[in-house]
Amino acid sequence: MNSSMQEKLIIALDVPTFAAARELVDRLGSAAKIYKVGSQLFTACGPAVVRHLLAAGKDVFLDLKFHDIPNTVASAVTAVAGLSQKVFKAEKEPAAWGRLLLCTLHIAGGKDMMRFAVEAAAKEARRISVPRPYLVGITALTSDAKTENLSAVVLEKASLAKAAGLDGAVASVQEAALLRKEFGKDFIIVTPGIRPSGAAIGDQKRVATPAEAVKNGSDYLVVGRPIVEAEDPVAALCAILREMDAA
Ligand code: C5P
Repeated sequence: MNSSMQEKLIIALDVPTFAAARELVDRLGSAAKIYKVGSQLFTACGPAVVRHLLAAGKDVFLDLKFHDIPNTVASAVTAVAGLSQKVFKAEKEPAAWGRLLLCTLHIAGGKDMMRFAVEAAAKEARRISVPRPYLVGITALTSDAKTENLSAVVLEKASLAKAAGLDGAVASVQEAALLRKEFGKDFIIVTPGIRPSGAAIGDQKRVATPAEAVKNGSDYLVVGRPIVEAEDPVAALCAILREMDAA
């Protein structure tokens, strides 16, 4: 298995309970390196699940898509960065932990909201001596139907994100190549809506295969249901990794 592909594949841990999350993480074992915790699991289990993943050496993408007044989002992002801090005596030292890698906020929240968030993440990460979580902005949801000028909308949103100091953006594979060309290699592009050929599309509209995502310059591919709901999640994950590697 090419481990560099594992560093690019994010498994969306869209399950309802801590027990289900733990079971899937145990089952995928060393085949998976990065997990996304979204609003469902975070609302059900809170920070405990994030800390469980970090302590297991996994990197975490906390996808809570913040969108509020600047002060509130800055405080929330401070709390996100603070999740990498040891709370219980029995815990291993954070140096052995995974990394709180990514966190999302809506670009629609505006320039001040994004700038405050960037400053807050940097300040808290410095304070507790951990790497700063990368902040990536939501451009458009991949479940939105394709509209005529979607590329222009995504490009404009991503420009706002970059100008405000965000590290990158979440966009569909259809826009990934455009963003890569426009913003260069240092702009992080995260692409959900990934479906290996033959997989059910579900509520996603703008989907693409893992190979297309890699070819279009995506840094991180987010895959949920094709792995989480697979009869054999390990086999599904390995097939996706192989497809990415071949691309
Ligand atoms: O199951 P599926 O592979 O469609 O999961 C995609 C994941 O990516 C979900 O957790 C969803 O919340 C997330 N996501 C998305 N579109 C975005 C941002 C995040 O589908 N623009």
